[in-house]
Amino acid sequence: MTLGETERHAAAAHAAGLVEGGMRVGLGTGSTVAPLIPLLAATGLRLRCVATSEATARAAAAAGLVVKPFDTLTELDIAIDGADQIAPGPWLIKGGGRAHTREKIVAAAARRFVVIASHEKPVPRLTAPVPLELHPFGLASTLARLQYAVPRGGAASPDGGVIADWTGPVDDPAALAQRLDAEPGLIAHGLFAPSLVTDVVVATGREVEHTRR
Ligand code: A5P
Repeated sequence: MTLGETERHAAAAHAAGLVEGGMRVGLGTGSTVAPLIPLLAATGLRLRCVATSEATARAAAAAGLVVKPFDTLTELDIAIDGADQIAPGPWLIKGGGRAHTREKIVAAAARRFVVIASHEKPVPRLTAPVPLELHPFGLASTLARLQYAVPRGGAASPDGGVIADWTGPVDDPAALAQRLDAEPGLIAHGLFAPSLVTDVVVATGREVEHTRR
């Protein structure tokens, strides 16, 4: 295993230990969540899972986890996901894997939202890019108002949105989140406020540091 693989596995294994039988579990997207899926399946616990992407849904079902559509559950006991950057607060940037809209909906529905990461994800302050999902209707006018949004190209999101990146200043994440939330053409942005996050689990080598709010 590379150092990165070791760390992602250690963080995922720690988070798997927080899951109990009967829980409704939100599963994130990305390379840190990837080892979590077989680890959760191996517990043999009876779980109902919601996935934040088709890739995660496929992997979870293949591992033998029960994956429910997210119109059948109103609340989740726990959601576990990775992050692109973790700054003091904790403020997060998510969506490098284009899944931040569903990830934020799942995080908001979870009583406990656990972020798992390898050692390079904590940063002293957030920096661009911040992933965005934009409504395709009126895209040109939304881009003009936002000024610093650059469409990423590639496929639309599973919900039909255009994935773009905010490339402007991120010095004040709360102010930026407020500005982005006020943009009618924006479906969701990848800034996750501290109020969404209950736990941060960071692995450095095999050592795991778990901070709980
Ligand atoms: C998916 O859209 C993202 O929010 C991921 O959760 C984030 O990019 C972390 O991914 P890795 O675990 O692959 O670094």
